[in-house]
Amino acid sequence: MKNILLIGADGQLGSELMKIKDSLSGYNWETTTIKNLDVCDKEKVKEKINSKPFDYIINCTAYTAVDKAESDIDTARAVNATALEYIGTYSSVNNIKVIHVSTDYVFDGTAHIPYTEDTATKPNGAYGLTKLEGENALMKSNSNSIILRTSWLYSEFGNNFVKTMIKLGKERDELGVIYDQIGSPTYAADLAQAIMNIIKVCENDNSKFIPGIYHYSNEGVASWYDFTLAIHEICNISCNVKPIETKDYPTPAPRPNYSVLNKGKVKNTFGLEIPHWRESLKKCIARLSQ
Ligand SMILES: NC(=O)c1ccc[n+]([C@@H]2O[C@H](COP(=O)([O-])OP(=O)(O)OC[C@H]3O[C@@H](n4cnc5c(N)ncnc54)[C@H](OP(=O)(O)O)[C@@H]3O)[C@@H](O)[C@H]2O)c1
Repeated sequence: MKNILLIGADGQLGSELMKIKDSLSGYNWETTTIKNLDVCDKEKVKEKINSKPFDYIINCTAYTAVDKAESDIDTARAVNATALEYIGTYSSVNNIKVIHVSTDYVFDGTAHIPYTEDTATKPNGAYGLTKLEGENALMKSNSNSIILRTSWLYSEFGNNFVKTMIKLGKERDELGVIYDQIGSPTYAADLAQAIMNIIKVCENDNSKFIPGIYHYSNEGVASWYDFTLAIHEICNISCNVKPIETKDYPTPAPRPNYSVLNKGKVKNTFGLEIPHWRESLKKCIARLSQ
């Protein structure tokens, strides 16, 4: 039996992995949440990683409060960056492969074509900056790491845009939603499945675990406005959704106007097939309605 350590098992992505983890035969899973492993506690991280011969660590922890991070960068940095130094250092000593998740917010959003892994990063805010620092800390401390940058994550778990738009759409007759930020919504269940598929691909051949940064989102692009229309259409919500500009919805952290990720590398390297965001949205909403 091989061993996987899943850290951050009760976030959106962690919860989706928990749902499907047993579909991967031949692996024992150990899972942690902040309640039994605070990734900012260096000694505890060391102890946990040293406790078993883990083959993989999947890190789903993050400080994801994008606006709050602007006034609380120390906490954001501790979770998103310094903890990656700890995870990277102790996993490297034990020869453990790491799969970590990062964000489209490492880019400033001024591009007009999808970002590749080689595009220069330039985060707009504290969240993106600390996530970028975490990428660098992990790559530096454990050269056997895969980092999956993703975007606009939602799921049936936790709080997210899909749930908010369903709630607001039911409560209000009219809603203004930003139309000048373009990205790719990503169903966390698809990302979780992609992580499982990467592990399966590498199962019998370690050389297939090619370290580095990869971009993963669902196929297709949308503005938040388009995304909201689709959510309401699928849920049969009749709310008058109006397109508004970013300047009319100021937030403490500036968002990238364009953050579409080019997924060619992850598809070619691991043979992944990625669903279109609209199909995945239907699946998520069907699960939410159950
Ligand atoms: N959400 C998005 O739209 C989005 C977009 C692009 C990329 N990403 C990235 O995708 C990954 C997964 O995101 P997600 O949406 O699943 O995040 P999430 O739902 O916010 O989950 C993050 C988890 O990390 C935990 N955590 C926070 N601080 C911790 C600490 N000190 N020690 C241990 N656990 C801690 C949180 O616990 P508590 O809830 O108890 O604090 C939560 O369970 C993250 O790397 C994120 O940066 C997310």
